[in-house]
Amino acid sequence: MSLKGKIALVTGGSRGIGRAICQRVSSMGAHVYINYVSNPAAAEETQKMIQGAGGRADIICFDVAAGEQVQDAIKQITTAAGSLDVLVNNAGITRDGLMARMKESDWDLVLDTNLKGAFLCAKAASRVMMKNKWGRIVNITSVIGFTGNAGQINYASAKAGLVGLTKSMAREFASRNITVNGVAPGYIVTDMTSSLSEDIQEKIKAEIPLAALGTAEDVAGAVAYLLGEDGRYVTGQVLHVNGGMYM
Ligand SMILES: NC(=O)c1ccc[n+]([C@@H]2O[C@H](COP(=O)([O-])OP(=O)(O)OC[C@H]3O[C@@H](n4cnc5c(N)ncnc54)[C@H](OP(=O)(O)O)[C@@H]3O)[C@@H](O)[C@H]2O)c1
Repeated sequence: MSLKGKIALVTGGSRGIGRAICQRVSSMGAHVYINYVSNPAAAEETQKMIQGAGGRADIICFDVAAGEQVQDAIKQITTAAGSLDVLVNNAGITRDGLMARMKESDWDLVLDTNLKGAFLCAKAASRVMMKNKWGRIVNITSVIGFTGNAGQINYASAKAGLVGLTKSMAREFASRNITVNGVAPGYIVTDMTSSLSEDIQEKIKAEIPLAALGTAEDVAGAVAYLLGEDGRYVTGQVLHVNGGMYM
């Protein structure tokens, strides 16, 4: 229970990888705030799962890409819970297409959600963490930010950008005992990947040395390591969870 008494916010915590992270962070003893933007039913289901296991969870709806909403949300959390100690920037979207056909609006939406959203949340949360002289931030990037991918120029740019954000923040905040790390999943079974055809999923598996897609729990385990006592001396790193597809 190395996060006992701590307050955690997981963006996009309502489903997929975010849900598994919420459950794991709760099992480590934290009071979890589950963020979502459009689907309250999924957030309520996650809350029920955590409460059913004896954990404490609240739901907070806001768009990570909207500065004012982010500031209001962090204020709401710190007013109600008294602190904010852990932030997992997990909210993410894709809007795929080859560059020649990619709309400017799809570039903007993906960069705003995946990259600017993490900056806005981390900026607001770090103010509280600096006062506490303790904090843990984990940014969920992607293997695609390291390898690139045809048809995902917006997503790859945003996820590569998150690596720069992670390392720069780690340097800026280390003196306040705030660690900032990244986790880069490979292909994980969630709503984001279930839309891929079986044919594409088979091709992906063929490129993975461990020959299978990962689970949301595989990613949550890496996040737990970085948030827990075992990860206390680790900062500015990106932990790859990808079955060996990128080494
Ligand atoms: N799945 C993979 O294979 C994979 C691989 C590498 C990296 N990742 C990264 O892992 C993270 C989670 O992926 P996932 O597959 O679990 O995604 P997912 O199942 O599609 O869930 C996305 C989550 O993000 C939330 N969200 C989306 N836009 C938001 C916004 N503007 N503000 C607040 N919340 C927002 C969604 O809330 P609503 O339901 O309310 O819309 C949902 O909770 C993402 O950053 C993704 O890029 C995933």
